[in-house]
Amino acid sequence: MRTWLGVIAPAWIALCMAMAGCNEGKVTREVSVGQLGNVAHGKQLIEAYGCGACHIIPGVHDARGKVGPPLLYFAERTMITGELPNTPPNLTRWIQHPRQVEPKTAMPELGVTQAEANDIAAYLYTLRGREGTSWID
Ligand code: HEC
Repeated sequence: MRTWLGVIAPAWIALCMAMAGCNEGKVTREVSVGQLGNVAHGKQLIEAYGCGACHIIPGVHDARGKVGPPLLYFAERTMITGELPNTPPNLTRWIQHPRQVEPKTAMPELGVTQAEANDIAAYLYTLRGREGTSWID
């Protein structure tokens, strides 16, 4: 019995670690939404900065802009603007400094602070497919 555990337990742990590794981005986002920032405040900031003038953003009043891509299912996106892997550090970087990533983008540098970008990112990471595509406030 002791030998059996000695063989199976490490193999099981290695398998769990490998699976967590494969899902890294997803796990990171799911674990960190609450830790990343304040979701309710993020929604207020999205309204205050007028992100909805350029983006359709579910749950945000009057966010129906069509200059930029709709931010539907944002938590499930693999990439940000097709360029950066969709991780919290990359998303907050994009929100603060889109023109460092994409010099010619129409998305302006709005002077968003790191703390504000964390809250905004936390809100965007609540947006999942199960909420439906037509959920526009
Ligand atoms: C003047 C219009 C404009 C405003 C205002 C604006 N954006 Fe954007 N945004 C864009 C455009 C255009 C893109 C596409 C970027 C590209 O591919 O170059 C974009 C891309 C994005 C993306 C990546 C989308 C994707 O499909 O990967 C996110 C996230 C985003 N914006 C969030 C925000 C947030 C949050 C705010 C408010 C703080 C904001 N944007 C304000 C125009 C805007």
